[in-house]
Amino acid sequence: MSHPNTQVRRVYDPLLRALHWAIALSVVALIASSQLAEAFEHGPYETTIWNLHILAGYGLTAALVTRLLWGLVGPASARGQDLWHPATWKASLKNLRLPSAHRVGHDPLASLAYLFAYGVMALMVVSGLGLAASEFQTGPLAAWLGNAGWVEDVMEDPHEFGFALMLGFVGLHMAALVFHQLRGERVAQSMVTGKQYLDAKPEVQHD
Ligand code: HEM
Repeated sequence: MSHPNTQVRRVYDPLLRALHWAIALSVVALIASSQLAEAFEHGPYETTIWNLHILAGYGLTAALVTRLLWGLVGPASARGQDLWHPATWKASLKNLRLPSAHRVGHDPLASLAYLFAYGVMALMVVSGLGLAASEFQTGPLAAWLGNAGWVEDVMEDPHEFGFALMLGFVGLHMAALVFHQLRGERVAQSMVTGKQYLDAKPEVQHD
């Protein structure tokens, strides 16, 4: 339920939102194409589907690199610092309770999950580019790793493990958004409109 003193703030800039959706779409395309390629294994379309998977991987790579740069030079709510809240994390762990106040910008606890997801996505990009080079002789690493059979042995397990972690993140992210929606908190819309609806409580967190 909205607080009578709810403040509406423009927080997330258009590039940050566009990057969020580019990352989300790439991840969905990567998950779908990997499952399709496995379903059509040894069939006539297998290689085509893996090529689509690799294309979606380039999309994710470009979006992640741009997000990293925007995290260095973008507005306050896009900066890396907006995802870095060690004091809140420590206090939550010590008191074993969720942070109670809402702040302008990214939720402090959710930020921990976002940093984790970015780490997993970086692992997926590095291992994926290695696999594209060694298995399909394509991509920026092909000239270097095109004939390196060992890359497949080393990269395949981390790529599959990262896939499972990514599914976990997406499930948790969706569950958290539904949880806020059910509590009447308009969180999910903020990556569409850029606006946040904040209750005017005295305990707004700033770390
Ligand atoms: C595969 C699907 C998705 C992935 C991989 C994903 C990933 C992410 C990531 C990495 C962030 C941090 C953004 C940043 O760096 O600024 C984020 C934030 C956010 N996402 Fe998603 N997202 C997905 C789907 C969605 C959907 C469907 C919605 C709802 C319409 C949504 C709403 C949000 C919101 C509101 C935030 C910011 C929350 C806050 O203020 O802390 N996401 N998401």
